[in-house]
Amino acid sequence: MYDAYLGGKDNYAADREAVRQVLRVAPEVRDSARANRAFLQRAVRFLAGEAGLRQFIDIGTGIPTAGSVHQVAAETAPATRVVYVDNDPIVHVHANALLTGSGTTRIVLADLREPEAILQHPKVGELIDFRQPVGLLLVAILHFITEEENATRIVAPRPGCPWTQDGKTVADHADPQAQGRARLLRCSRHQAMLTYVNAYDHLLTLARVLGSDGAMPLFSHTSLSRAVCEAAVRFAWLMDPGIPSEERIVRGAVALFVSADERLKSVRGLPAERFDRRVHRQMIESCTAERDAVQELITGAGLTFGHRQNGKTKSRLELESPKVSVPLKINVTELMAGLLPDSPSWYNIGSSVTHSLYWGLRDVDGSRPGEPLALTPNVLDVGAAAESAISASGLILDRCGRCYGHDPSAHIKRTMERREAVDALMRRATRSTWAHIPAEPQHRGPRGRQS
Ligand SMILES: C[S@@+](CC[C@H](N)C(=O)[O-])C[C@H]1O[C@@H](n2cnc3c(N)ncnc32)[C@H](O)[C@@H]1O
Repeated sequence: MYDAYLGGKDNYAADREAVRQVLRVAPEVRDSARANRAFLQRAVRFLAGEAGLRQFIDIGTGIPTAGSVHQVAAETAPATRVVYVDNDPIVHVHANALLTGSGTTRIVLADLREPEAILQHPKVGELIDFRQPVGLLLVAILHFITEEENATRIVAPRPGCPWTQDGKTVADHADPQAQGRARLLRCSRHQAMLTYVNAYDHLLTLARVLGSDGAMPLFSHTSLSRAVCEAAVRFAWLMDPGIPSEERIVRGAVALFVSADERLKSVRGLPAERFDRRVHRQMIESCTAERDAVQELITGAGLTFGHRQNGKTKSRLELESPKVSVPLKINVTELMAGLLPDSPSWYNIGSSVTHSLYWGLRDVDGSRPGEPLALTPNVLDVGAAAESAISASGLILDRCGRCYGHDPSAHIKRTMERREAVDALMRRATRSTWAHIPAEPQHRGPRGRQS
């Protein structure tokens, strides 16, 4: 079906009929399949290009369609070696038929749920040199892994990750509360991993869009979203290697609860008149169930909610012993200031500003995405937001990348260079835009920015 969504030729009449039926009720599925494939190709282009990887293992290959991993990698490095792994015999037969004759690809019939068998497979050994970096692709496959099969076991973090330590803290305790804490850690780790992958992709795309010499293309790029920056900062907060495991359990619980609660609130806030009443009710019910499940997880781990003075509003999550207390309101701007102390205070977490200004400016200015905009004081706010996003990108690379076996130093360096380039551009623009404003006494630019 996936091949049929993508417009491929390697599918059966039954697949096409099923696709037709799905598209009738959910027409967006085709777009999401295409977006997924585009992500895979972007990731490979980045890994083969900027990161310089020359070998990949693609687990959950699917039927090869145009733009497979080895083809995309070959645009940069024709000799890139790729092992394709899938557990579907039909995919295996197709892949063998379509990819024969290449000395730089291998096709393996194996199951992600047995990662050791993949790593030790002779065909993998033939092509992959584990002393060199390997790009491991698990694209659109982890959702096939059930809760019991434990995706986090399969994608285990490297030694040195704070979570390895956490695992030791909560392991081997038979009492239900300790098991509840272990469950909580697993869930927050799972959510954080998804956040990480998402934010990483967005921020790297952003960093590339910004290029080396300026912020202009930024205005054609809407994926600089507040959610992504916030996710990066929240994740770094959760992953802080300096905190004890008990504090991470409570922080993880806060992150899970806040996101489930925010989802519920935003669904409740949707304009009901624009939705089918039944669908709207279902959305509210499923978000309520999710928030309740998180709440159950939290109380099962022996954590309690602290309340504001009114005794109703939940304001913090607490652990009795050892004593840990974390507010439910995560102030991202404050966190960012703490996590990035070298950033001037006007590095606001302003991607929301970017969004609104971007659309606002388009209206005012009449320009289209991709067209350059004149630098106005408002645009400078956008620049500050860009700098925030780049800082967040550096942060997530630095704090989080290592846990997944990345050596992010080269990217951090590049990220910082980009930040400086945007900074320089903004400073030049500030001088020309406010040339008529005397430098002293201190004039504050938009959002308190020192001009
Ligand atoms: C949606 S396709 C993704 C194809 C490709 N990775 C992409 O993103 O374009 C998912 C593929 O994962 C494979 N798959 C599902 N569970 C698997 C498992 N446990 N081990 C290996 N492959 C699996 C399916 O057979 C299918 O070919």
